[in-house]
Amino acid sequence: MTLESSFYDATAPLYVAAMGTELVAPLLYDLARLTRPQRLLEVGMGYTTPFLARALHDARIDAYAEAKALATKGIPTPASRAKLNDKWLERHPTFASPAFHAAPYEPQLVVLDDFSVERSSATSVLPILKSLELDDLVVPVHSSLQDIHTSLDPKLTPFDFVWVDAWACLYFFENCWDLVSDPGGIALFHYLIGYEEGDAIIDYMKATQQMHPDELEILSLIEPHKLRQNSLTLVRRIASRGNSKTSRSTGDAAS
Ligand SMILES: C[S@@+](CC[C@H](N)C(=O)[O-])C[C@H]1O[C@@H](n2cnc3c(N)ncnc32)[C@H](O)[C@@H]1O
Repeated sequence: MTLESSFYDATAPLYVAAMGTELVAPLLYDLARLTRPQRLLEVGMGYTTPFLARALHDARIDAYAEAKALATKGIPTPASRAKLNDKWLERHPTFASPAFHAAPYEPQLVVLDDFSVERSSATSVLPILKSLELDDLVVPVHSSLQDIHTSLDPKLTPFDFVWVDAWACLYFFENCWDLVSDPGGIALFHYLIGYEEGDAIIDYMKATQQMHPDELEILSLIEPHKLRQNSLTLVRRIASRGNSKTSRSTGDAAS
């Protein structure tokens, strides 16, 4: 399943050149489909929103088909572990994990925006999601990120995948880490490289990672052909602050 040209046509009205997400949006689609999150949070709605929703929609189709095929293939019981050999693993659905399919895959995309940026296409997103029949996957939250702990139903958390495309990346990293799944949740931040404030945030993230190397992984991807809006920084949570080996050995308190 790939994105059809009709999907690009339907989402084109949401594209705002200054936001620079023309290549990021399809990349987010692939990353979300690959990592198959149960709960996904987007901070800063617009062109990227339907790509994230569509990723969950397609992942849900993948998951249902896989679960059905896995049931036919049969799952070795603990008593018959010998069956869990390469032959069984490679049979369709190849390498499918029984543990992943123990519960139905019912993903949700929480989209949060305070509609503070006039030229953003955030206010046009919901009708387009509806026209694409993707709105059943989406929970819109009209709020500032700074109020997320009060405006968000805790039942919608934690998030396995977070996409922050707003001037609040540092706020999220410092104050919302508890909303990222522990362990394994990933948070992606748009455009933090190549200008003073962004570089300072990256330095701060790296310093945090260096102090707690078994808690976070950080990787930035650059679009070298662009002058602005040209990077994506991915932070993966490996362990909770305070529970990692580093924190325990240094006696750090959880933050
Ligand atoms: C860069 S635009 C998002 C672009 C969008 N992802 C796209 O691909 O077109 C930033 C959005 O974040 C919203 N925003 C800015 N600061 C915010 C905050 N502190 N809390 C919530 N939303 C915020 C703005 O209203 C705007 O819609």
